[in-house]
Amino acid sequence: MTMTDTAAPYWQPLFQRLLGEMDGRTSPDWQADETGLDPTLYIDPTRFARERERLFRLMPLCLGPVDQLREPGSAMAREICGVPVLITRTREGHVKVFLNVCRHRGARLVVDEGEPCRRQSLVCPYHGWTYRLDGSLAGLPRAEAFPTVDKHMLGLRQLPSEVRHGMIWAVLDPAAPAPDIAAFLGPLDRDLDAIDLGGHRLYRQHAIKRAANWKLIVEAFLEIYHLTRLHAGTIGPFFADAVSVSDAVGPHIRFLAARERTAEIRELPPERWSPQHHGTLVHFVMPSSLFIYHPDYISHLGLFPSAPDETLFVHSMLTPDVPEDDKAAAHWARSFELIDGGVFNSEDLPTCEQIQRGMGSGANERLIVGRLEQNLRRFHVSLDAALG
Ligand code: FES
Ligand SMILES: [Fe+2]
Repeated sequence: MTMTDTAAPYWQPLFQRLLGEMDGRTSPDWQADETGLDPTLYIDPTRFARERERLFRLMPLCLGPVDQLREPGSAMAREICGVPVLITRTREGHVKVFLNVCRHRGARLVVDEGEPCRRQSLVCPYHGWTYRLDGSLAGLPRAEAFPTVDKHMLGLRQLPSEVRHGMIWAVLDPAAPAPDIAAFLGPLDRDLDAIDLGGHRLYRQHAIKRAANWKLIVEAFLEIYHLTRLHAGTIGPFFADAVSVSDAVGPHIRFLAARERTAEIRELPPERWSPQHHGTLVHFVMPSSLFIYHPDYISHLGLFPSAPDETLFVHSMLTPDVPEDDKAAAHWARSFELIDGGVFNSEDLPTCEQIQRGMGSGANERLIVGRLEQNLRRFHVSLDAALG
C-alpha cells in the first residue's frame, strides 16, 4: 500500500455508508425519481460521430497496462476507436504511442493486432521505409528519388501520452497537448495510488470486438441490480442483493458494492476493512475505462467503439505478483477463466448484444432507470456535460 499520507483511506467512509445502506436505505439514490434513457442514444450515427469527436478524440484514453510491452525493443499495434495505434518500448525502455501509419504513403507499419512483438526497427511492408522504435525515420530505399525529403522531419506521428499508475494513457489527436493524467483523474488519482494499481502486473489480456454500443457495456458495469440475477450461476452468490454506495467524482464515478461477507467488518477495526475482501470497489473513468477490484486481482476494462453497434472490449487482468509456482499459476488461470470467459463474455456482453439488436425495435420509447441504477444517471450527466 502506498499511502501518500496518514489520513484514513477513502474506502473507510464508503464502508460506513455501506453499513448504513445495509441497515436501511440511507443513500440519496432512494429519493431519486425513475428516469428514462432514449434508445436512439445507442443507435444514432450522428450521436456516435459526436461522441467520437468530443469524447474519444479529445479525452485521454487508458490503453491498458504498461507491461503489455514488457521487453525493451518491442511493439504492439491495436486499432483504438478506428484509429490505428502503435505502442512501442524503445531499447532504452521508454514507452511511446504513435499512429501506426507510414509517413510515405500511409501504409500500416505493424499489421498484427494486439500481439506484442520483438522488433529492432519498424519496416513498412509497402516500400520499406524504416523507423526506429522511438519513431524517428532511420532510412528509406532509393533515397535519391526523394530529393526534398528531410529524414529528420518525417518521424512517426506521436500521440500525446503518459504512463501513470502502471497504465498507458493517450489522446488520439496527435495535435492535442500532452495530457495531465493526475489532473484528469482528480481525486481518483489518490484512490488509484492508495490501492497500489501501479504495483500490479499484467497477468493476461483478452481483446474482442462485440456487437453492442459502448455505453451499454459501460452501464452493465455501473449497476449491480443485475448481479445476483444475471450472474446467479457464477459470481452472484458472493454478493448481497444490490446494496452499494456511489459518488460522482468530477466526470468519473466511484462505487462500493456489498458482498455476502461485508457484515463481517462490524467485528473488525476500520484499518482492517478491505475494499477487495469485504466489498467490491469499482472506479469508472470517463469516457470508457473501468477498474474492478476483485478479492485478489484487478480487472481493467477498456472499451473502444468503432461504430454505434461495435466495441472493442479489452480486459486486462492485473495481479499483485507474477505466479511463483504451478499452484499459483493454476489459481490465476481459473480466476481468469471464470471472470473473462464465464462472466464477462458469457453473461454481460451477450446480454448487451441482445439489447443492441432489440434497441431499434420500437418496444421501448425509453429505457427505465430505477433507484438501484442511479449510476446510469450519473454517467449520462457526465456524457451530456462532455458532449456540450
Ligand atoms: S507507404 Fe510505407 S514505405 Fe511506402
Ligand atoms: Fe455483470
